[in-house]
Amino acid sequence: MSETDTRAGTTAVTDDETPLLKVEGLVKHFPIKKGLLQRQAGAVKAVDGIDFEVRRGETLGVVGESGCGKSTMGRLITRLLEPSGGKIEFDGKDITHLGTSGMRPLRRDVQMIFQDPYGSLNPRHTIGTIVSAPFRLQGVEPEGGVKQEVQRLLELVGLSPEHYNRYPHEFSGGQRQRIGIARALALKPRMVVADEPVSALDVSIQAQVVNLMDDLQDELGLTYVIIAHDLSVVRHVSDRIAVMYLGKIVELADRDSLYASPMHPYTKALLSAVPIPDPRRRAAKSERILLRGDVPSPIAPPSGCRFHTRCWKATQICKSTEPPLIELRPGQRVACHHPENFEDQAPQDTVLLSAAKEAAALVADEVLAESAQTSAAVAAEKEKGPESSKEGAGTEAEAAAEEAAESASKEPGDT
Ligand SMILES: Nc1ncnc2c1ncn2[C@@H]1O[C@H](COP(=O)(O)OP(=O)(O)O)[C@@H](O)[C@H]1O
Ligand code: SF4
Ligand SMILES: [Mg+2]
Repeated sequence: MSETDTRAGTTAVTDDETPLLKVEGLVKHFPIKKGLLQRQAGAVKAVDGIDFEVRRGETLGVVGESGCGKSTMGRLITRLLEPSGGKIEFDGKDITHLGTSGMRPLRRDVQMIFQDPYGSLNPRHTIGTIVSAPFRLQGVEPEGGVKQEVQRLLELVGLSPEHYNRYPHEFSGGQRQRIGIARALALKPRMVVADEPVSALDVSIQAQVVNLMDDLQDELGLTYVIIAHDLSVVRHVSDRIAVMYLGKIVELADRDSLYASPMHPYTKALLSAVPIPDPRRRAAKSERILLRGDVPSPIAPPSGCRFHTRCWKATQICKSTEPPLIELRPGQRVACHHPENFEDQAPQDTVLLSAAKEAAALVADEVLAESAQTSAAVAAEKEKGPESSKEGAGTEAEAAAEEAAESASKEPGDT
């Protein structure tokens, strides 16, 4: 479609290989003002230097606990917020600091779906008024007229054209989210950013709405960024998943690699909080990792690796040096000195921080043993060289694992 090119006003050369969205070093700091003079007394570092891209037609899932900066990231890439630093490119065009008029074409191409299907629909407006609002705002007259197009959209999202004159309160939560989706699709966007689109809905309705979004993606060739606080929703629909922790991306990988062998301890913890549908894995002993406490404040994030205050593998280097996000395996980027399922990146650094020892007490023994086994197996293999690795590594790894599990169970958590 050549129409899309003029809409985006892009002169840059783009092809299918250029990502639809490219983000480099993106930062959002919210200033904290104090006193009568409203002097800046610090900043909430909600998003603190992230890099990623969204490929054409894919679904990128973004997960992390509440307060990790996911919504801020979503509002930055849809340019509802002004970035404090970094660069955002949409379809090869720099949109980082576009003003209101420059943003106009982009407003059609990029749409957002919000979590709260109650709060985001004006209760005094009819469904017809709500879903047709984008046409009025952009001064667009759809072919066949507004009413006919809105009714087509309502049908597209599984509602009835007769709902046109009804009001939001007459609908259930799931139906309201369908209305929100219809409104988001009105201007035929290319990318949709959905911020926890089903978190407020009953579990039984969540799957219906997610499946609807999935079907619409195929039908309309949409690109999605779907934000969620855990992996249960995005695991089924994402092609790739970015894991956020305190304003940073700590792991970014294709879905299957992330599930089969998560490398960041935080990813592993998030995964273990999701019920396992596979009966063979469920039969195995519980492997839940309980994360201690809340996400620390983004006003003064921990030094080094921001996860070191809650990580059961944290050593001195984790406290002093921030691990860069690097591609350890093809398609899997991780920021960790002691990754899971991979060679230790700082094997010389072995003394656990006290926070790690405490965290370990709360981590299920099997998980700990498994972690220790991974690191020990790698370490043993390294020490012995390639020839003897097959025979000896197993027993040594087991011994190390036992030791780790033992010290974990000895540590009662309070002294
Ligand atoms: N407008 C704002 N002003 C100040 N702080 C904000 C603002 N929006 C979000 N924050 C803070 O930024 C951090 C990240 O928030 P948010 O992006 O909503 O995270 P998430 O969506 O992952 O829960 C939180 O500490 C939040 O309180
Ligand atoms: S091992 Fe260290 S670098 Fe890796 S997540 Fe834990 S604290 Fe961070
Ligand atoms: Mg949020």
